[in-house]
Amino acid sequence: VTTQPVVVAIDGPAGSGKSSVSKQVARRLGYGYLDTGAAYRALAWHALEHGVDTSDASSVLDVVGDFAFGIALDPDAYSVWVGETDVTRAIREPRVSDAVSGVARVPAVRQSVNAMFRSLVAGSGYAGVVIEGRDITTVVAPDAPVRILLTAAPEVRAARRVGEVVSQDAASVAAALHRRDAADSTVVDFMSAAPGVVVVDSTQLDFEGTVDAVLAVVREGLDAA
Ligand code: DC
Repeated sequence: VTTQPVVVAIDGPAGSGKSSVSKQVARRLGYGYLDTGAAYRALAWHALEHGVDTSDASSVLDVVGDFAFGIALDPDAYSVWVGETDVTRAIREPRVSDAVSGVARVPAVRQSVNAMFRSLVAGSGYAGVVIEGRDITTVVAPDAPVRILLTAAPEVRAARRVGEVVSQDAASVAAALHRRDAADSTVVDFMSAAPGVVVVDSTQLDFEGTVDAVLAVVREGLDAA
């Protein structure tokens, strides 16, 4: 008998602290960590490598067929692959961030990526997996025992992103973040919590405070399950 890993589903906008918080929560629980945004980014990278116009859905679909996505679920060994190429760093480049919304907008892309997530989680070997993204609480794992929307005020999110992106000035980082949120919001609603989803607002919290707040919600959810 194989039991499915427990899923902790975490959604939220860019700059909410979602990735670093989810990774740390996974460490504290001894769970795997799945960054679903990395799959959309890796596909955008793959499309750009093939010279594809990422604003054109049918061109994007042409390169989904040979998209060999690989990701490590160990929160201490985070790495992302396309075929034999380690793209862990490359998928954070601004050219990829700018292209990724176009790729994520294609419904057939989302279906195929979601199928990959389900098999990655099922075959992970972990007792549980923290899955982080935009539509995890609503589409990928709507039945998860723990579903969280991690938010923060827009100006706080922009300020956090500025600290991460060294190659761009603050104003362009903030503008790019707002542009991407606006584009992504038309695909999935990650700004408001679906019924049963617990909101954790990190605006007034530091990193450890946010991790603790999320872990408290996890414990409550697992106790109730
Ligand atoms: O979390 P991130 O910024 O790395 O996500 C990259 C892009 O992928 C983002 O523009 C939104 C999209 N995305 C999505 O549409 N659905 C998800 N579950 C995760 C990310």
